[in-house]
Amino acid sequence: MEWKPDKHAGAPVYQQITKRLEQQIVSGELPPGASLPPERVLARRYGVNRGTVSAAYEELRAMGLLQSWQGSGTWVSRHLWGVRQMPNWYKYTNGGAFLPAYPLAKRIQEACLDEGIINLAKAELHSSMIPSLSAEKLGGLQHMNLELGYAQPKGDPALREVLVAHLAENYGIEASSEEILVTSGGQQALHLISQCLLNPGDAIAMEGPSYSYSLPLFSSAGLRLYRLPQDEQGIITEAVSALHREQRIRMVFVNPTYHNPTGIVMSEARRAQLLAVCQEQRIPLVEDDAYGALTLAGQPRPPKPIKAIDQSGNVLYVNSLSKTIAPGLRIGWLVGPRSVVERLADAKQQMDFGTSSISQQLARHFLQEACWRGQLQKLSAYLLQQQKAMHTVLETEIKQFAAWNRPGGSYHIWCRLHEPIEEKELLDAAIREGVVFTPGGVYGAEPGWLRLTYSWEDAEKIEEGIRRLKKVLQTSRR
Ligand SMILES: Cc1ncc(COP(=O)(O)O)c(C=O)c1O
Repeated sequence: MEWKPDKHAGAPVYQQITKRLEQQIVSGELPPGASLPPERVLARRYGVNRGTVSAAYEELRAMGLLQSWQGSGTWVSRHLWGVRQMPNWYKYTNGGAFLPAYPLAKRIQEACLDEGIINLAKAELHSSMIPSLSAEKLGGLQHMNLELGYAQPKGDPALREVLVAHLAENYGIEASSEEILVTSGGQQALHLISQCLLNPGDAIAMEGPSYSYSLPLFSSAGLRLYRLPQDEQGIITEAVSALHREQRIRMVFVNPTYHNPTGIVMSEARRAQLLAVCQEQRIPLVEDDAYGALTLAGQPRPPKPIKAIDQSGNVLYVNSLSKTIAPGLRIGWLVGPRSVVERLADAKQQMDFGTSSISQQLARHFLQEACWRGQLQKLSAYLLQQQKAMHTVLETEIKQFAAWNRPGGSYHIWCRLHEPIEEKELLDAAIREGVVFTPGGVYGAEPGWLRLTYSWEDAEKIEEGIRRLKKVLQTSRR
């Protein structure tokens, strides 16, 4: 929410504004030379008299932080670095290897901080679906004798053994504990891959559209991103060979089960074809399976992961507990050839000295077969009911504006507007109306797509959120 002075706080309003602007200048948010809004504009934004802003500007001019010129406006002093003896944080914060998040993604993150907003963007389970940590339920943990030393770089050996059994039992993936690296969520696995196995300028291929947070991560590593077209069976495998002939692609990234955001499940045949193409061309294939276990009650199980049919060590398999148990645990894993696991573990050790040992011990508990199965059963019923609630209200409220899919699992509905609306405008209008969703552009989709998430809000809020969205669609310019 935008900052405003508090008229009921003890401090005079002009001083609050002075302090706020001073902080923005010192932090580099308002860099030297940046122009400030005219007094009357800022006064309107803050809901105060023009004279109050005038007094704040005057104070800041006296401090040497602002300069004004009749007819030219007011700006942050260009001689500031000399006056304040501070580093040029603006320049620093615009440097570095890591690119900032996309502006639309940032806008959504900010909106999500408002607890009053109806959140159809947040890809998290509602807290009632996260297993409780009561001492009673965690009886086993009381005897766990929590180890608080640094964890091993590859991850807690006991957790890796649990993962060996878990992967075989639930995914048909045969791997030894030496082929497993525990990471801080799947996101860290993707980061490690992009930083340690690839070089700036390398070409990689991925589904278009694709998981939003992987895109800036790969761009930050200087990779060239190419999109692979998809149909309802997943990516078109011929496109991989064609692209490889043109660009010598160094890696293929896929999210084959309940793809985020489209919900597509790659067919069994397509999985085998894709693996064969990658094997033939000796291209590593990264399989992100974040939502793979989340089949809705009554829906057919998706095919096994590609890793389960990979006999030649072509696939790096990535998964985590974020979508099934709890994202705050930050427990993920990568399964791949031993040499890759060792290389990534070495980098991880340099980066963070291993994943939290407490989280790893909790993960062992949650991955016990009975606990895991109970949780999945609960989720499949919950997600079905949530998806139904969203479909019902979409059907009654939004039909004249859009069409949408019915994925057999996961958290999201992928929705296409009959007539695209400028994304930022639509998102801003929705946020003003008190609902937030994810525009397709965040995933690299063409204009007119929205991802609507039903895992977080209850049915009542989902209904109200879609009604608010309808209001926005009725009034938005096309
Ligand atoms: C497709 C996909 N992959 C990976 C991740 C990474 O999640 P985490 O780091 O929490 O495991 C996410 C998170 O939203 C996702 O949607």
